[in-house]
Amino acid sequence: KSSIISLSEITNFQSKEEEFSPYRWYRSMLNQEPVIYNEETDSWHVFKYDLVKTVLNDHEHFSSVRKRSIVNVGYSSEEKGADSEHHMPDKLDIHNVDPPDHRKRRSLLASAFTPRSLKLWEPRIQAVAEELIKEFEHQSEVDIVEAYTSMFPVIIMSDLLGVPSKDRHLFKGWVDTMFMPTTDATFDQINEMKKIAGEEYFKYLYPFVVSKRSNLGEDIISDLIQVEVDGEHFTDEEIVRTTMFILGAGIETTSNLLANSFYALLYDQPELYAELRDNLELVPAAVEEMLRYRFHISKMDRMVKEDNDLLGVKLKKGDAIIAWMSAANMDENMFEDPFTLNIHRSNNNKQLAFGFGTHFCLGAPLARLEAKIVLTTFLKTFTSIEPVEGFNLEENLTASAAGQSLTTLPLKLYT
Ligand code: HEM
Repeated sequence: KSSIISLSEITNFQSKEEEFSPYRWYRSMLNQEPVIYNEETDSWHVFKYDLVKTVLNDHEHFSSVRKRSIVNVGYSSEEKGADSEHHMPDKLDIHNVDPPDHRKRRSLLASAFTPRSLKLWEPRIQAVAEELIKEFEHQSEVDIVEAYTSMFPVIIMSDLLGVPSKDRHLFKGWVDTMFMPTTDATFDQINEMKKIAGEEYFKYLYPFVVSKRSNLGEDIISDLIQVEVDGEHFTDEEIVRTTMFILGAGIETTSNLLANSFYALLYDQPELYAELRDNLELVPAAVEEMLRYRFHISKMDRMVKEDNDLLGVKLKKGDAIIAWMSAANMDENMFEDPFTLNIHRSNNNKQLAFGFGTHFCLGAPLARLEAKIVLTTFLKTFTSIEPVEGFNLEENLTASAAGQSLTTLPLKLYT
C-alpha cells in the first residue's frame, strides 16, 4: 500500500467546485455512522465534532507517529523518497511525535511565536498590507489572489525571518516549489524540483543564519538562535530546517484562508462587506467564521496506538484514522444552523481548523493576526467590491496539498 492515503477515493467529488464547497458531502457524512471505514484506502474517518476532538487530542490512543499519512496542510516532511539529507532530522520533528518527546520540541519552536513577538511584528505586518494595497488601489479591477492573498503570507514569513526585502522574490520562488502538492503520478518529477529548490534555499539561508548569530534582531531566526530548553540549543543547520517546516505549515494555509475570505465576501454573503466596513471591530469574528465556514482543507490523520473502542467501533493498533476538522465545523450539535455563514454566532472560536489539544497550531495567533490586518486594511481602503461577471469558479481552482485552492479571483474595486 502507498504510504499516502488518497482522499479523493473517499470523497469522490464530481467537480473541483464541489470540493471547494463540500457542504453536501459533509452533511451526509455527519448524518452517517460516527466512524466510517473505507476499504479501498484501508482507513477510518471521523466527522463529528466531539470525536474529531478526541482523535486529535488523545495521544495515548491516537498517535502522531504514523506509517501512512494523508497529504496534509502542506509540510512535506514524510514523503517517500525524500533525500535524507534534506529531511527534517528526527530531533526537530514536532509533527510526527507524541508527548513526552513532543513537549521539548514544541517549547523550542514556541519561543519564536510568543505574544511578545506578535506585538512587535504587528506594525510590520500592517506595513506589508499597506504596501501591497498601494500597488493596486488605483485600479478598477484586481486579481486579489495574484496581487494580495498569495503574496501576503510569504512576504510576511520572509520578513519575520529577517530576509532582506530585495530577496523576497527568490524566497517566494523556492517556497512555491518546495511545497508544491504531488500525486503518485507526479511524485518523482516534482520531488526532484523540490529537492533543487530546497538546496538553493538552504544555500541562501545557512550563511544568513551564521551571520545572524553576531547580529541578532527582532526576527524568528534570532529567536531560534537564542532559545534554550533543558540546556539544548538549535544548531545553524537545525534552524534552517526549522524555518522550512514553519514555511510549509504556515504559508499555503494562510493564503487559502485569505483568498477564501474574499470569495465569501463576494459570493457567500455580499452584504457582509458593508457591515464589516461600518464596524471594523467585527473583523476578528469574521475571520473566525471564515475558518469555520470557508476553510475546507482542514483534516489530520493519526495512527491507532492501542486497540480501543473509544469511538464506538473496534479500532486496531496500527489502523490509520482521519479526523475531518472542516466537517466537524459543520456539526449541528456544536454550531446552530451550521451551513449558514454567520459572523455573529457566539461560539465561532470553537472551530477546529487549527486542530485541537497537543498539536494545536503554533501559528494560529499569527495567522489570525495576518487575516485581521489583511481584511481591515483592505476594508479601510475600498468602499465596496463586486464580483467580475463571467468568473468561472471551476476553471479557477487547483488541487493543493489538501483540497482546492483559488488560483484567480478577480474583483471590481470602488474607492
Ligand atoms: C500545526 C492548521 C497557519 C505553524 C497545525 C495543525 C493544524 C494547523 C490543523 C495541527 C496538526 C495536528 O494536529 O497534527 C493551520 C491553519 C493555518 C495555519 C488552518 C492558517 C489558516 C500556521 C502558521 C504557522 C503554523 C502561520 C507558522 C508560521 C504550525 C506548526 C504546527 C502547526 C509549527 C505544529 C504544532 C505541533 O505539532 O505541535 N496547523 N495552521 N501554522 N502549525 Fe498551523
